[in-house]
Amino acid sequence: MKITAFNGTHRTGESNTAILIDHFLQGAAAEGAQTEHVRLAKAKIQSCTACKACWQKTPGKCVIKDDMSTLVEKFTSSDVVVLASPIYADNVSGMLKTFIDRLISTGDPHWELDEKGESRHCRRYSKPTKLVAISNCGYPEQSHFDVLRLYFRRMCRNMHLELCGEIYRGAGALLAGGVPEFSEYLSGYLRLVENAGQQVVQQGRVSETLAEKLEAPIIPLPGFNQIFLAKVNQIVDAQISKIA
Ligand SMILES: Cc1cc2nc3c(=O)[nH]c(=O)nc-3n(C[C@H](O)[C@H](O)[C@H](O)COP(=O)(O)O)c2cc1C
Repeated sequence: MKITAFNGTHRTGESNTAILIDHFLQGAAAEGAQTEHVRLAKAKIQSCTACKACWQKTPGKCVIKDDMSTLVEKFTSSDVVVLASPIYADNVSGMLKTFIDRLISTGDPHWELDEKGESRHCRRYSKPTKLVAISNCGYPEQSHFDVLRLYFRRMCRNMHLELCGEIYRGAGALLAGGVPEFSEYLSGYLRLVENAGQQVVQQGRVSETLAEKLEAPIIPLPGFNQIFLAKVNQIVDAQISKIA
């Protein structure tokens, strides 16, 4: 099984999204999957110009000369793709969205009705068949992923993909051990993320039991969000006074 993760963070160095991807892929690789972590920030990806050449003139191929031809090849040769992004303004990052827009070349221009009678484009390629969504955000509540939960469902319907796992984590700064007081809780959570990678290879999807555990608070302390908020504000003040 080939699993390729496309990371939409705009950060080229350390990244909280990368930590989630690496643990997920580590679990998948331990079960024998061939894995790759692609950082979109290191690629040249221009915006789709809506010229429709990929549907009419050069079917399946985009005429823009940038890194998308290599990325599309990685996408359509994978059994499972991971689309991962930090939350930017309540949504995926602009970079991941630009990448997703350019995947229009992988669709067939003809339309069909799905099993519920709703329109979508026909399939052009047989792969990928499954998608795993990964995201993290700054705020601690899991409600900040509401837009993504709907977005990835709609995307999977449109692109004929099964959404076989969702890993969303608030208070993303904790993932890199950014708040040392809470780092002791981290390893248990990251093991769950690895388990998700294992399950996608072993049984084709993340189980409901594991999905529930992945949504539970990482830091099971009463009033944690308030404590985290105060900590964040301390860090913000310290950073500002360092620059001033
Ligand atoms: C442009 C921008 C917009 C952001 N918008 C949100 C937001 O709407 N909600 C939120 O909780 N965090 C938001 N964040 C914070 C990031 O999601 C958070 O720092 C995340 O951990 C970054 O992941 P990364 O290290 O992989 O880039 C935003 C960050 C940036 C740079």
